[in-house]
Amino acid sequence: MPRILITGASGRLGRYLIRHLVRQERSDVVAWSGATRTPLYGIALEPVDLSDFESVERALARVRPDIIIHAAAMSRLSDCVADPARAARVNAEASGHLARLAGTTGCRMVYLSTDLVFDGSGSWYSEDAPPAPVSVYGRSKLQGEQASRAAPDSVRVRLANLFGPTLGGQPSMHDQLVTALRQRVPITLFDDEWRSPLAFPVAAAAVAAIAASPVVGLVHLGGPDRLSRLEMGLLAAEELGLDPAPIRAARRSAIPAAEPRPRDVSLDSTRWRTAFPDLWWPDYRTAVREMAARP
Ligand SMILES: NC(=O)c1ccc[n+]([C@@H]2O[C@H](COP(=O)([O-])OP(=O)(O)OC[C@H]3O[C@@H](n4cnc5c(N)ncnc54)[C@H](OP(=O)(O)O)[C@@H]3O)[C@@H](O)[C@H]2O)c1
Repeated sequence: MPRILITGASGRLGRYLIRHLVRQERSDVVAWSGATRTPLYGIALEPVDLSDFESVERALARVRPDIIIHAAAMSRLSDCVADPARAARVNAEASGHLARLAGTTGCRMVYLSTDLVFDGSGSWYSEDAPPAPVSVYGRSKLQGEQASRAAPDSVRVRLANLFGPTLGGQPSMHDQLVTALRQRVPITLFDDEWRSPLAFPVAAAAVAAIAASPVVGLVHLGGPDRLSRLEMGLLAAEELGLDPAPIRAARRSAIPAAEPRPRDVSLDSTRWRTAFPDLWWPDYRTAVREMAARP
């Protein structure tokens, strides 16, 4: 069985990845976190600060993985604005360091990137579209993509906006939406910001399949729909049988932001779909319904 190391295993996607791989029983899973220690799905979490290069080297020598799924990141945009040097260290330099180590042992590296490498002036971005990030986070993730190429056997997977309930840890936007609807607390959603949302379990299965495949280069993973934040909220309310009254529509320009918010970073997932046509690819509505029915 291949040994798969997941970094960022305690994160929103990391938890879904562990659950998926444990259920599959086709790999030996090793999980690293930033600080979290609680075991997940029977897998121990080892805190390894990726910005501490010596610790990473020692920890990696103990694990000797065949594949690294690098999901760790400083992912909150406001944290990246507050400390751009730390964002560059964690998202870019640490990714390059990990990739160089992977390269020396012939380990495969899967770098998880983001739709926010695009400026949002287009739509349905393909892998050929030139990236032009407008946020500190987006820039650091693009630098991380480039740095991850130090591992000869590497793939960079750009994920669209991920949605769904979290499996513990920080609440997701979806959790916040459902809580607001249930408690009838007003929630504001943009009607002029479009994404191609992808459900967490779908992303986890896709990333695991890509990790186990020989696919290299760049792959875009998004959902089949292009939806505004407002449309997502209204569709989720409808599918979950909740009153949409607490939802307020707003334009991006109405809410001050430290950085520009990309208008439309929907991803064209043709390359992924062509390579893995049998993987589950539900539309937004179906995914919301299925995740509620089968958490
Ligand atoms: N969620 C989305 O919508 C989305 C969309 C596009 C791309 N992505 C990308 O997908 C990946 C997973 O995202 P996510 O939403 O699961 O992120 P997340 O919930 O913010 O989790 C981040 C993970 O990184 C770990 N981490 C943070 N700093 C670290 C450090 N210095 N050293 C080691 N580990 C560190 C955290 O550990 P602790 O919590 O234990 O400290 C946590 O496990 C990221 O690369 C992100 O950029 C996410």
